[in-house]
Amino acid sequence: MGFDNNVRPVDMERITTAELAEAFISKEIAAIRSQVGDGKVLLALSGGVDSSVVAALLIKAIGKNLACVHVNHGLLRKGEPEQVIQVFRNEMDANLVYVDAVDRFLDKLAGVEDPEEKRKIIGAEFIRVFEEEARKLDGIGFLAQGTIYPDILESNGVKAHHNVGGLPDDLKFELVEPLKFLYKDEVRVVGKALGLPDGMVYRQPFPGPGLGVRCLGAITRDRLECVRESDAILREEFAKNGLQGKVWQYFTIVPDFRSTGIRDGKRSFEYPVIIRAVNTKDAMTATVENIPFELLSHITDRILKEVKGVNRVCYDMTPKPVGTIEWE
Ligand code: XMP
Repeated sequence: MGFDNNVRPVDMERITTAELAEAFISKEIAAIRSQVGDGKVLLALSGGVDSSVVAALLIKAIGKNLACVHVNHGLLRKGEPEQVIQVFRNEMDANLVYVDAVDRFLDKLAGVEDPEEKRKIIGAEFIRVFEEEARKLDGIGFLAQGTIYPDILESNGVKAHHNVGGLPDDLKFELVEPLKFLYKDEVRVVGKALGLPDGMVYRQPFPGPGLGVRCLGAITRDRLECVRESDAILREEFAKNGLQGKVWQYFTIVPDFRSTGIRDGKRSFEYPVIIRAVNTKDAMTATVENIPFELLSHITDRILKEVKGVNRVCYDMTPKPVGTIEWE
């Protein structure tokens, strides 16, 4: 990618309304059609905002000539793979390859404690699975990517933090990057205009290694379920109480130690769940969100009742710095 191709045109208007989004969509559809013609395009569709908007745009432009690959690595949030299938296969009639790679990832991660090692394994395995799927498809000439302008500004066009390496040389396709001059808020306006559900368009940031960095230390299936179920309760309660879209990032963490408790008159020895809710502009610094005490109590009650293997709930009061947003 040449530098000049990566500078947002000075006269490009900010996309703030549905009307401007429609104009952007029409222009990009024409540009995509002229770039790829009858060619086939491959896209790794995580279900995050950027890849979902790219998918919806390309489906409009070239229909089934877009092949979307959704890899379920077992570290996604509750309901996410189902939502990708529902929205893209069932509603948009996309050419979607769903890969259940849960056992494969969890087996590779078994016993690995070091956070950076975990990230590397997840990134490398992701590329391996994606490569295998790409090789099964015939005639792919292009690779679509959800690169957005901050990715270009921050890290030379590589998505920050992704640690995924790249595809081998014989699978280096010509890139299709229709969002590369858009800021996140503009991507959301375009996503809304493309008819994607709010739950997808207004999603909070979610790290590439997913719940893997929130299930601390060596990932086990039981603790991973504690993270997934407690996160689902937290998200449900934040949405019900008008905090979705107001709090920048909120999630739960499950450490790899247990503590003593008491349940049904008997001693228990189970995992804690830690709740984290922060606000930030750029993720470089962050403040802790002041969540109403009654809501925290209600979420605590639900987690203790509904999540198996948990006997304690804590709220993380640490700003960044000194703590980071994630725990690993
Ligand atoms: P930290 O924990 O460094 O996080 O304060 C800052 C922001 O980056 C996200 N994050 C990641 N995103 N892959 C990602 O795609 C990663 O490995 C990763 N680690 C942290 C984090 O969720 C927060 O939004």
